[in-house]
Amino acid sequence: MRAASGQRPRVAISRLNMPSDPARRLADVAEVREWNRFEHPSAADLRVLTDGADVLLCVNGDEIDPALLEASPDLRLIALASTGYDSVDVGAADRLDIAVTNSQGTLHETTADLTFGLILAARRRISEAERYLRAGDWRQDDLDLMLGLDVWGATLGIVGYGQIGQAVARRAHGFGMTVIHHRRTRGDDQWSRWVEFDELLRTSDIVSLHVPSTPETRLLIGERELRMMKPTATLVNAARGAVVDEAALARALREGWIGSAGLDVLQEEPVPDPSSELFDLPNCVIVPHIGSATRAAREAMVHMATRNIIEFTAGRPLITPVGRITRAAVERVPR
Ligand code: DGY
Repeated sequence: MRAASGQRPRVAISRLNMPSDPARRLADVAEVREWNRFEHPSAADLRVLTDGADVLLCVNGDEIDPALLEASPDLRLIALASTGYDSVDVGAADRLDIAVTNSQGTLHETTADLTFGLILAARRRISEAERYLRAGDWRQDDLDLMLGLDVWGATLGIVGYGQIGQAVARRAHGFGMTVIHHRRTRGDDQWSRWVEFDELLRTSDIVSLHVPSTPETRLLIGERELRMMKPTATLVNAARGAVVDEAALARALREGWIGSAGLDVLQEEPVPDPSSELFDLPNCVIVPHIGSATRAAREAMVHMATRNIIEFTAGRPLITPVGRITRAAVERVPR
């Protein structure tokens, strides 16, 4: 199914009804094949969809592993409509001369908003209070009803200080917070002071995770780290589920090593482990990976993927490449 010379590049899109209608935008420059079912494609479906395609537009959650890449000899570009690219084996893509792009720069402000939502919900017990009200339990105004912990004036520790971490730091100043951060590169900025990881864990009232999912960050927060945090501390994870040891977190919340948690991500998504104790803990707020879920952000994410494809098919430099872009990848796209 290799596109013969003079033929237009073939683009496969892994989701039905993507925001900003990439199929329509790409129709001028490519032959577009769109996934056409409501259920997301399985690994086998993805292989069929990608067979003969030069470009795959896909999202976080589509597992792009070496088996799929090796079964797709025509593939030259994977354009992700997401910022995290842990679902793509970028090393294998590099080896096979397949370029990879993400949607960097389109969702950091939106995800920082949600992070603050989780901080507020966890510390001020908003989800718990709403459940209480809806259950009809609010009968009198006691002064100790649903007492929480202040967000204003608290110390916020940000782990991973990229675009999202920095957007969270900027918001924290509106709350009069002291902001510290940890990342590999040392250095302060106007919003936050760099500290060692362990110092951040010991001194923060809120620890907010914004690292990518890599072998180095897998289970970054486990029993050792949770036991170092303050007993009143809040852990927020709007990064990836793999960064936190969920069993240790459940124990920490149940036994009071820390005070509360706000999670946008889980180790198993989209169908979480039904036996996870986290769902039974009132001091744990959990939402279904909605960090970037505003119409504007989702459209911008898909739009960025679409723009990368248009640049690639025109032989121009990619806008947001990740990994190694080889000359071979660029030259082999039919145009
Ligand atoms: C991302 O883009 O990485 C977000 O987590 C949404 O998938």
